[in-house]
Amino acid sequence: MPPETRNIPFTALGGVFEQDDIDAALKVMQAAAEAGGNFFPLPEETEFQQAFAAHEGAAHAVAVNACGTALDACMMVLGIGPGDEVITTPLTFVCTATCASALGAKVVFADIDPVTLCLDPRQARGKITGRTKAIIPVHFAGLAADIDAFEAITRETGVPVIYDAAHAVGTTYKGRSVGGAGLASCYSFQSNKNITTLGEGGAITTDDAEFAENVRQKKTFGYVYGAQLRVASVGFNYRMTKPQLAVGITQLAKAGRLIADKLAAMQKMQALLGDVDGVVLPGGIEEGHGAHLYIIRTPGIDRSAVAACLKEKFHVGTAHHYPIVWTWEAFAGLDYESRGCDCAVEASEHAVSLPVFAHSTDDDLRYIADALGSTVSELS
Ligand SMILES: Cc1ncc(COP(=O)(O)O)c(C=O)c1O
Repeated sequence: MPPETRNIPFTALGGVFEQDDIDAALKVMQAAAEAGGNFFPLPEETEFQQAFAAHEGAAHAVAVNACGTALDACMMVLGIGPGDEVITTPLTFVCTATCASALGAKVVFADIDPVTLCLDPRQARGKITGRTKAIIPVHFAGLAADIDAFEAITRETGVPVIYDAAHAVGTTYKGRSVGGAGLASCYSFQSNKNITTLGEGGAITTDDAEFAENVRQKKTFGYVYGAQLRVASVGFNYRMTKPQLAVGITQLAKAGRLIADKLAAMQKMQALLGDVDGVVLPGGIEEGHGAHLYIIRTPGIDRSAVAACLKEKFHVGTAHHYPIVWTWEAFAGLDYESRGCDCAVEASEHAVSLPVFAHSTDDDLRYIADALGSTVSELS
């Protein structure tokens, strides 16, 4: 039993938001308030995109207003539509799948690797048909998917891979940042991610210059700037605002420190939970993990009972990453295939995200570990 009662919420801020971030936003807001001021042009966009591309190891980065719209833009550039199939994992946030549904395509769910919780390349390969137009793996919780295996699938079949890298700011795979993998990667800067651009934001990274230009047009009404503005394709407005871009620059500058602190806290938690029976620890909590989420599993015990006990008895907040995508009511009306995803279903039923953050103290971590140990022994 924990010796004392603490209150440890699962906070909605996944990283840090500090005075330098406030100053950066205020500076552009102040300039806009001055005579002749405005929220355009956006030199911050170029600076942030270059810094983000370099940080994530890609040739190009295109800043957008969310990871969801980043995925939408990628699907549109690939020309996905009715009659097409897109393969993804069922253990993810809903938009990893609905980006394909929104364009009339069928979502084909394939199972995850039970250790990494990322889409299993062999399972994805087994679901490729003549109609498959894309595969969307997720770098789950900050752990890289098996990029080499997905590259081999693209080489063999021609099917492009678009990574959902919402969790993967700072993630590396075999020592390399993951932003240049596949055809493109879609990042999130929503409030609970490793970096945030005032609560919402995202980016697409790619090594493919033509793909970068196409998604850039999608996010800006199809504009091509020049002596005369052209509208070269059908596009939308998925732009990030000037204050957000300014904050992106300050957030990115400290992402390394934030991720190192989060990873250190996660490694301490691994050690604390090492001898707790009935708890499966997350894999890959080591150098290269983006340290977005710390997710344990409690096989044989329903996750909601664990979450309720932690909350009610010990005041420890948790989160669920994720309900299986096709169980959302929207999927009742959508075209999808879900055969053979047993590992994903099993993981979802027993996955509990613990409040392990950069600011977690050793006492907090010990308290959470003790509370979880007591909860699991009580419910077993
Ligand atoms: C795996 C995954 N993909 C996509 C998203 C959507 O990101 P955004 O909120 O930036 O659209 C999230 C956000 O929670 C996510 O966790």
